[in-house]
Amino acid sequence: MAEKFTIGVLTSGGDAPGMNAAIRAVVRTALANNMDVLGVMHGFEGLLNGEFRPLGARDVGGILQRGGTVLLTSRSKRFLEPTGQRDAIRKMNEAGMDALIVIGGEGSMNGAYALAQKGVKVIGIPGSIDNDIWGTNIAVGTDTAMNTIMDAVDKLRDTASSHQRAFLIETMGRNSGYLAVMAGIVCGAEMVLIPEAPVTVDEVAKAVEEAYQRGKTHAILINAEGSGIRTTDLAQKIDEMDVGFKTRMTILGHIQRGGSPTAYDRLLASRMGVKAVEALVEGAHGVMTGLKGKGVEFIPLADVISNKRRVNMEYFHMAKVLAR
Ligand code: F6P
Repeated sequence: MAEKFTIGVLTSGGDAPGMNAAIRAVVRTALANNMDVLGVMHGFEGLLNGEFRPLGARDVGGILQRGGTVLLTSRSKRFLEPTGQRDAIRKMNEAGMDALIVIGGEGSMNGAYALAQKGVKVIGIPGSIDNDIWGTNIAVGTDTAMNTIMDAVDKLRDTASSHQRAFLIETMGRNSGYLAVMAGIVCGAEMVLIPEAPVTVDEVAKAVEEAYQRGKTHAILINAEGSGIRTTDLAQKIDEMDVGFKTRMTILGHIQRGGSPTAYDRLLASRMGVKAVEALVEGAHGVMTGLKGKGVEFIPLADVISNKRRVNMEYFHMAKVLAR
């Protein structure tokens, strides 16, 4: 009798809310198609170490609503090297793993593509709060992070307006201004600082002064971590210039990565998990599941990694206009 088709599944890079929902969908869809699943622990690091464990339907029970990733994750340096990738393929072969589903961000899609080029059947699922992956309107985890940011900024705004202060709030996003721009719109920020539209500390301080002079009762500034301006430097400058508002700053940090996924992320992760297994059933591989319009499509990994996702600057301008 022929061996059953076995799929490996791993999560890699920064954890993102909804990764567990995607793992659950992969496992249960695979079982429904008479395939076996091996969970790979610790991302690509676990792949090259052969850290595998069989996953059944019950093993993924009760994880849909949990943040983080039950498979654990890593940023593997060894896997970046050809020797690491060769070891990973060897471990996959020894375990009888026929295909691999990689859930992660931009770096993880690069890792997935490296394996695909070496003949491994790989499917990517975009999972990252940064939403910086080309080929999908949105990645798993971004919506939850946006809601976490919105909740935090709404709370900070209460204090900002009660004390008539300027609050400088730093968001994550690595080299992408996506989270900051969207937060600027949904939280009504006075100003958004992003890597895609560099400004100087002086220009920002001047803009805060003008906001004071226009009669604003407080100022909310969202600074993307990759903007090139350190939030501490900005606070110092605004205080030195004595623009009218006193400043306070909050670096949101890793709270943006955690927490129970929103309904949107649970649904997106489930759809993408199902679709990733369907790709393998149909004999497709070397692709990532991408949300295009209303449907989940297969996007070649070669295209994903050779294109840069850019923030839609229309949203940046919208945030500016709405801040008047
Ligand atoms: O990619 C997700 C992310 O949270 C980025 O926004 C941030 O730059 C980075 O990961 C932080 O990584 P770490 O958790 O390894 O410090």
